[in-house]
This record gives sequence, structure tokens and C-alpha cells, in this order.
Amino acid sequence: MKVLVVGSGGREHALAWKISHSPLCDEVLCAPGNPGTAEVARNVPVAATDLPALVQLAKSEEVDLVVVGPEDPLCDGLADQLREAGILVFGPGTRGANLERSKIEAKDLLERYRIPTAGAKRFDHSGRAKGYLESLTEWPMVVKADGLAAGKGVYVCDTLEEARTAVDAIMEERRHGAAGERILIEEFLKGEEASSFAITDGETLLILETVQDHKQVEEGDRGPNTGGMGVYSPVSSVSNRLHRQIEQRVLVPTVHALSREEIKYRGVLFVGLMLTDAGPRVVEYNVRFGDPECQALVRRMKSDLLPILLATAKGTLDKIEPPEWDPRFVVGVVAAAAGYPGSYAKDAPISGLQEAAALEGVEIFQAGTRLEGSEIVTNGGRVLCVTAMGDDLEQARERAYAAYDLIAWEGKFCRRDIGVRHQGKSGEEYALDEDPDEVQSETHRKAQESNVWPRT
Ligand code: AMP
Ligand code: GLY
Repeated sequence: MKVLVVGSGGREHALAWKISHSPLCDEVLCAPGNPGTAEVARNVPVAATDLPALVQLAKSEEVDLVVVGPEDPLCDGLADQLREAGILVFGPGTRGANLERSKIEAKDLLERYRIPTAGAKRFDHSGRAKGYLESLTEWPMVVKADGLAAGKGVYVCDTLEEARTAVDAIMEERRHGAAGERILIEEFLKGEEASSFAITDGETLLILETVQDHKQVEEGDRGPNTGGMGVYSPVSSVSNRLHRQIEQRVLVPTVHALSREEIKYRGVLFVGLMLTDAGPRVVEYNVRFGDPECQALVRRMKSDLLPILLATAKGTLDKIEPPEWDPRFVVGVVAAAAGYPGSYAKDAPISGLQEAAALEGVEIFQAGTRLEGSEIVTNGGRVLCVTAMGDDLEQARERAYAAYDLIAWEGKFCRRDIGVRHQGKSGEEYALDEDPDEVQSETHRKAQESNVWPRT
């Protein structure tokens, strides 16, 4: 088989790496890819945002499957266009991608199917939004731009004044462009954040292993948010009971909702959750793998990923066995360029990659890199992710940081506390006393056959 991976980040390097190991795979193409993907795939210089050129590429290369990494091309309709051209694709069409593109549409779906989430009101007029804020007595509240805002459209506001300023920034100053035409004003949820990954073809759900990223740039979860500074898996603090509650109360009802709405959703369902004292609640949906979560997941997946991606694209996921996972631990440390997530320097020559990759259990996935002659230089904020496997979290951490320390460029930095267990409550304490899962539990089920959700 010939597979085209769309994108150029660490997530896409990890996907191309994993797919290239499949016995079913003859060739992987990556558009546009990076110097890392070039080691496992043939890079083709077509941007991930150039939809007509991508469709043309898939046709002229007669690829058997397209795997779309990032959300932007999915939101813009790449999967729909490929399907119209008769090409199999892993990734939802625009109706499915709306779950990530529009927080209001996601909230509509969550409410319609009574999936637990924060209560929210919608506004398309800043005056009315501010009027509503004035009527509130409990703070903090959360103000959110409806559209894609590169993770920056969410304002947690402690006071009325802050919330007014947020509404103005989003709706009047249009700080996030068209993403701010509409807003949500939402109840603040208290708890620990967690995320959950599943693959679905819109009918069958295949839940992936637990994985946790570290969003903030500084150790101890301080400083501004980033795309993710590191990752670990499995997440032992998510107890089995909590895991089952997320499955029963969030994932199964979401697939049911997609099925009822006749959204043929074929791809990744990545759910951002808040673990509250009243149980898990949905904070957001994403319609693609997380980066760097994907890097950790593919390292731990022992089964061949390609048949799973293919069955998802075909809508035959019910015929696939759940994947086997390596029980060992993975830690992924993101090496970033000084200044990130603000402005950062580019073009610094990188050394030590081969020595680092040769260490036991280590695999390096490149993201913001570029070839300058025969030399690899930095070309992004998150430059690469060093992943390492170990028998326990400590060994995985030691190996990842030992490899990280062998890599050098001017201005390189990382967080030194990736995979250090936080001291918060245990997952058991966040799980509800009543266990909704007396019924049954398996991580692979036909959502339609289950009847745990309230029918609307
Ligand atoms: P989102 O882009 O919707 O995931 O929001 C970005 C971040 O804002 C989340 O990861 C949370 O840390 C925070 N956040 C969003 N919504 C809420 C909420 N209702 N309550 C508390 N924190 C929230
Ligand atoms: N690491 C979080 C994300 O990919 O959105």
C-alpha cells in the first residue's frame, strides 16, 4: 500500500514512522514533511493547506490512503474533497471537524445529547454579552471565542472587569479575527485536566491508551500555554473506574451523537476533560491526534496501526481487533527554541541527533526542523520531541533526558519535569461513587448497541 501523510510536525513524523513499519506498507509519502519524515517517507513539497494540490497529489500518486495530521486542512474540507475524488482518508469531513472549529457547535452537540460539560451561553453581540456578565454573581467565568484561535481564544476571568475586557478583545478588537464573531460565556470548572483519545468510524469506538501532555512552558505548570512541552503514557492517576466513566459518559455518547446526526466521522476523537468532583466533563473536542501525545501513543502501540487507519477510513472498524499496547512507560520531552511560545530564533544548526537516537529505548521525532545543505537546522518553536521507553516512568525519564542532553543548538530548552507525577487528587477521587459501568466494560464496542445515554 501507498500512504500519504499530510502535515509537517512531530505528530506527522510519528505517524509516518509507525505506518512505515507496517508489513502492508510499500511506501509512505509525506506532504510537506520535514527532515525527520524524510528518513521514513518520501517528502513531497506540497503544503498541508493547499487542498487542490493535495487532492491532485493523492490522485497522481494513486495512494491507497491519506492520513491527515493537523486540524486546519480538516476544518477546510480536505477529507471531503478527497472522498469526493474516491480516495480513502483517515480524518473527519467538515461536519465532523466542526467539533473543533466551532466551540458553539460543539456545545450544541454536547447539550443536545446531554454529555456532561460546562453550562454556557452564546452571544453574537458584545453589548448583550456584557449585559449578561453584569448579572452574574459567581466568579470566575470563562469567555471563549467560537472559532479556531490557535489555543489562545479562551479567557478565564476572575472579575467582571476582566470578562468585559475579554469580550472587547474578542468581539470588538477582533484579536482572533473571524473566530471572535460569536462567543461562549461558560461556567468555570474546577478540577484536574485530562484528555482521552479514541479512534472512530462514526459507529465503532476504539479507545486508545491514557496519555498526558504538559501544556505550560515552565516547570511546575507555570508560564504561558504552548502546544505541549512533553508527554507521558500511561497515566496511572487515571484509575480504571474513571477511565470507564469517561468511556460511558463521554466517548460512547459522543459517537452515538455523531451517528444520530449522520456525521460520518472517520478519524481521531481527542476529548479535553475537566475531572470535577461531579465527574468528568468535556472542555473541548479536537478532531486529530494531539502533538506530542501522538508520539507517545505510537511508541506504545504494539499492533500494526495501518489496518486500524484503513478500517476507520472504510467504515469497517467493527472488524478490527483492539490494538495491543506495550505495558512499559514512554516519556516524550519537547526540545524548543528560546523564546517559544513567543517569538523565537530559527536557523540554528542542530548537532547530536544520531548519538541521541542511538541510546536504548530512544526515538526522536522532528517537528520544527529544516535542511540547510546537508545540515539540519531549527525551523520552529517546538523543534523536536525526544521519546524514550522504560520499564517504569523513572527509567523512561532518565533515558529521554539523557538523549535530550546529547542534542545541541543555540537556545535549546525543555521542561525538566516531564512525567513527574503531580501531587493532585488521584483519579479514584475524581470518579463518581456510582459506577455507571456495572453493565459491561470493554475498550472496543459498537456504540449503537449500548444504551447508557439518555435518548433525546
Ligand atoms: P479549550 O481551548 O476550550 O480547551 O480551553 C483552553 C484551556 O482553558 C483548557 O485547557 C482549560 O485549562 C481552560 N478552560 C477552558 N474551559 C474551561 C472551563 N469551563 N473551566 C475551567 N477552565 C477552562
Ligand atoms: N498537545 C495538545 C494538542 O495537540 O492540542
